[in-house]
Amino acid sequence: MSDALHSQDWAWRARAKAVLPNGMYGHLSTQMLPEAYPQFFSRAEGAMIWDVDGVGYIDYMCAFGPNLFGYGDREIDDAYIAQLRVGDVMTGPSPHLVRLAEAMVDQVSHAEWALFCKNGTDATTAAVMAARAATGRRVILRAHGSYHGTSPWCTPVPAGTTEAERGHQIWFDYNDVESLRAAATEAGNDLAAIIGTPVNQHAFLKQQLPTADYARAARAICDASGAMLITDEVRSGFRVVADGIWDDLGAPPDLSAWGKAIANGHCISVVLGGARARYGIESVFVTGSFWFASAPMAAGLVVMERIKEGGYLKTITETGNRLRTGLDEVAARHGVGFEQSGPVTMPLMTFTDDPDFRAGFFWCAEMLKEGVYLHPWHNMFLNTAMTDEHIEITLKAADKAFAALNAARLTLGPNERLLAAAANR
Ligand SMILES: Cc1ncc(COP(=O)(O)O)c(C=O)c1O
Repeated sequence: MSDALHSQDWAWRARAKAVLPNGMYGHLSTQMLPEAYPQFFSRAEGAMIWDVDGVGYIDYMCAFGPNLFGYGDREIDDAYIAQLRVGDVMTGPSPHLVRLAEAMVDQVSHAEWALFCKNGTDATTAAVMAARAATGRRVILRAHGSYHGTSPWCTPVPAGTTEAERGHQIWFDYNDVESLRAAATEAGNDLAAIIGTPVNQHAFLKQQLPTADYARAARAICDASGAMLITDEVRSGFRVVADGIWDDLGAPPDLSAWGKAIANGHCISVVLGGARARYGIESVFVTGSFWFASAPMAAGLVVMERIKEGGYLKTITETGNRLRTGLDEVAARHGVGFEQSGPVTMPLMTFTDDPDFRAGFFWCAEMLKEGVYLHPWHNMFLNTAMTDEHIEITLKAADKAFAALNAARLTLGPNERLLAAAANR
């Protein structure tokens, strides 16, 4: 389907079909979104994105996490550009490598060293390798539904991987101490690590905050067994607290993986770790052609100054609270069973009794018409460039969208788009 408003977008999709796998690959594919969602964008600034047809949206996806301080933040990007001009990818790193490692070690309680890489998957994979190397054991425990990236050991779609690559992993239920203990018992003396997402951000399901009991049980199992505790902060890092989330719960990990927001969209990720994991990380061979690029590190240094200063967290939390409270009020006025879960800075919005997301798809498509880009089944993100005005616009849009949903409800058919995309995976 094509429409006049999105003619450029559909033209690019047609060209993409010839030269991109499936016409678009990975998490940026809009195949599992309402049909009206644009696939291609031309620019971004602050809290806004514009599609290739020039239509602007308040962007609650924040590039799936990298945008924390607004798109195109002047100070961060100036630092990036200045370093790009003098030396980015060189035969060796610049001193920014050490400066940024020092800044992260200073900021994150459990961290005593830092190993920078590019993507979140690099960091989670290196952390798992370090844990196996440190312990000389094989088994990793992980929570059902937790996403850790796309290496063969963790990609959620097993096509193209071998059983051996995906072996030595045992799953447990998030926040369920008994299930975690049972998995540890099953691993026995081959337990290398527990990898936990600090916040449960399972796509399609209500988001869950970790209980302190659960995080501390994971820590205690690792202490008793000699295994490593790994947290995957790639998505949640610095968006909920200005430290590791499990440090705050009294369960500091031995290793943690970070990415996305740590340079506000510039390409860098990091493994952080403590003394117990140093031998492991020093034993494995992990590197990459671009891992020592200095320009993203320059951007990261500005980000770390802001994290340290701390005011940003108050800003996004207040914005998130206004959005959550406002949407709940509007939904209640319309008598809609609307649920918001996860931290207010990383919300998921869903509807009660909506197993195939047909209400969610309809509502999000209505919001899109009003210039608000939401996601029906993946958690969203807030950034410091979002203002009261953006929230006001969002709440007004929600008022219209809930009314439209109520009017359409009885005639909504099954969510064929989502079901077909899911069946094809
Ligand atoms: C929790 C978590 N871990 C790991 C990753 C992988 O990061 P990347 O896509 O940068 O490889 C992601 C990406 O969304 C993530 O959300």
